[in-house]
Amino acid sequence: MTETNTLIIFGASGDLTHRKLMPALFNLHTKRRLPPGFNALGMARSSMSDEAFRQTMREGAQTFARTTFDAQAWDDFAPRLSYEPGDPTHPECLSALQRRLSDLEAPGDGAANRLYYLATPPHVYSDITLSLGHADMLREDAGWRRVVVEKPFGHDLASARALNDALHQVLAESQIYRIDHYLGKETVQNVLMLRFANSIFEPLWNRNYVDHVQITVAESVGVKHRARFYDRVGVLRDMFQNHIMQLLSLVAMEPPASFDADSLRNERVKVLRSVRPIPVDEIQAHAVFGQYQGYLEEEGVASGSRTPTFAALRFFIDNWRWQGVPFYMRSGKALATKTTEVVIRFKSVPHLMFPLPPDKQIRPNALSLCLQPDEGIHLRFEAKVPDTVAETRSVDMEFHYADSFGANALPEAYERLLLDALNGDPSLFTRADTIELAWGLIDPILQSLEDPGNPPPVSYAQGSWGPAEAQDFIAQDGRAWDLGCGGHT
Ligand code: BG6
Repeated sequence: MTETNTLIIFGASGDLTHRKLMPALFNLHTKRRLPPGFNALGMARSSMSDEAFRQTMREGAQTFARTTFDAQAWDDFAPRLSYEPGDPTHPECLSALQRRLSDLEAPGDGAANRLYYLATPPHVYSDITLSLGHADMLREDAGWRRVVVEKPFGHDLASARALNDALHQVLAESQIYRIDHYLGKETVQNVLMLRFANSIFEPLWNRNYVDHVQITVAESVGVKHRARFYDRVGVLRDMFQNHIMQLLSLVAMEPPASFDADSLRNERVKVLRSVRPIPVDEIQAHAVFGQYQGYLEEEGVASGSRTPTFAALRFFIDNWRWQGVPFYMRSGKALATKTTEVVIRFKSVPHLMFPLPPDKQIRPNALSLCLQPDEGIHLRFEAKVPDTVAETRSVDMEFHYADSFGANALPEAYERLLLDALNGDPSLFTRADTIELAWGLIDPILQSLEDPGNPPPVSYAQGSWGPAEAQDFIAQDGRAWDLGCGGHT
């Protein structure tokens, strides 16, 4: 039986294919992880021969693969790549695609499976999927059919619902794989191992011991060549609705009974259902928005744009575990450093018996999950300063992936996600209900921001930690931003 597994990439001449998908596929090939009879067929409007496509993809793999490029392995991989120029919303192009696929899917008794990947601009996601449906290319008679949908999934709640409705016209939910590349990151998945494969953390992981949680996703670069796209999106859609909400759900979820996709996704969605929505008229008290100086001069940014490039938000989760514990989140472009970390700040000790000078305070314990770039975990606690009577200082207990597992141990997120989609494991993909719940939480914030009666984002210096208001915002609650992975607030 000769099974074939074909990945069809729409938008194959774009950045995503070049920078992310091809390096990931090539790494999987070198690790011999791709399924039997694997081929990738690219489609985009540019006219290109198979050979030219392979050459461009080679450059992508060479430049962006995380391991040293192996030319011999590439020569072995390249024949699996082919290209068909065309617009997948046109029936005649889909007929041509179908002919190419039939050639790849050599006749035999084995299944001819297909993974369609929408790496195109988002406004054509539904048209392409509907066209595939109308061309009978989503029927599962000869093998499974799955569709990977890249982000952004919608622009707001209404458009996300409309996109879900369109996809559901021709696909079952189990055939849809909505990507959030944060879930493909090893360190993000490790939140589950940390919490549920150890017995020392989970007993403390609740409102009795946790004072608050902070999620920081900071980037040092500005919007650069993506300015035109970004200006219509802004930080709330680009980072909060998807990546940060997913991080929140992993940090806050209840332990699932098993590691299967449904159990995991059900627990993640339960968290989002318990997040208290911020009413539109209270948003200014729960959020700070910023825009970096120089943003308005970026090519492609509308004049006088009010798009935020930074936001800090505070959410509460209304359930038994988290009642009253604030979750502070911040993300921005052009900040002091690139770091993604989750900090669990524990409560202070109930009574301090050590005689401290009046100006000295003890820092509460903090567990920092360092998601990138120096992946690991830090635990901050107090230790006695030698040769003093009772002075203490914060010290750090550290785990680094690179030390324990080797420098190249962490695969790219897209490797894991492509493999899971090919293997039919949707655990790390976002279900329709989750996407809509996350939009439901972000929508009122967008509305408040886009209301011309509200103040525009506050400007902040590039290379800073965002507007000073972001510090005041958390200080009003008697707290401060805290980074434990080697960065600085
Ligand atoms: C993308 C956003 O989803 O995530 C980008 O569109 C952002 O604006 C990127 O830079 C961050 O991803 P990572 O993996 O570098 O943290």
